[in-house]
Amino acid sequence: MENKALVEVEIIVGFDSKALAIKEQLAGGNKHLDFVSIVGMPGLGKTILDKKLYNDPYIIHHFHIHAWTYVSQVPKKREMLLDILHFNVLTDEDKNMSNEMLGEMLYKKLKGKRYLIVIDDIWDIGVWVDLKMYLPNEKNGSRIMFTSRPMHASPDSHTHCLRFLTEEESWELFQRKVFPDESCPPKLIETGKQIMNKCQGLPLAIIVIAGLLAKNKKTEE
Ligand SMILES: Nc1ncnc2c1ncn2[C@@H]1O[C@H](COP(=O)(O)OP(=O)(O)O)[C@@H](O)[C@H]1O
Ligand SMILES: [Mg+2]
Repeated sequence: MENKALVEVEIIVGFDSKALAIKEQLAGGNKHLDFVSIVGMPGLGKTILDKKLYNDPYIIHHFHIHAWTYVSQVPKKREMLLDILHFNVLTDEDKNMSNEMLGEMLYKKLKGKRYLIVIDDIWDIGVWVDLKMYLPNEKNGSRIMFTSRPMHASPDSHTHCLRFLTEEESWELFQRKVFPDESCPPKLIETGKQIMNKCQGLPLAIIVIAGLLAKNKKTEE
């Protein structure tokens, strides 16, 4: 498998218009190297959305080079470089390369190509500054997409803030996770909706509780 973001098809609710708007900025608009960021609190769906966009057939077709890397709280420049270079299996020679050598390699790889790099969950913009010098800007429509928490949004990017799911969307997600092959039996709807309301539209909360319920016998208790 060429990259980490290729995942099985997941149920996704409520992102259609946001996904479309981001897709337009990725594949249309400015020719110069441009930055798009998806911002929201943990569990709101930033990663699922960036993977959905990353794996979108139109986006795959539009860019020559694609890379997806996850940053985390403690950024590791070397791992990010290796991810973006798609170095999954390292030879001894690769292991001996310095970060600068890897960076230069990246620059050469990206030069002349239209590339999309997704940097998932960036906390510290410093990592980004470190990487930026290896990313050529050649006015060919290349893009960097970040996801971050609200406090860490990058100032010079097109920012998309994620919202909470509506009641209808929450219910749809809840039902599809708890009852994958059937619809919710009428006598459980009220209890189901009460449980779902406690999640307040946060997808992660819905997924966790639905996951627990799906494993149990479906009674009101
Ligand atoms: N709109 C959505 N539809 C379906 N599942 C979602 C949605 N948003 C988030 N999820 C699920 O909720 C969980 C948290 O989402 P994630 O993308 O990891 O959030 P974040 O990256 O913002 O912390 C994941 O299991 C994800 O699959
Ligand atoms: Mg995430």
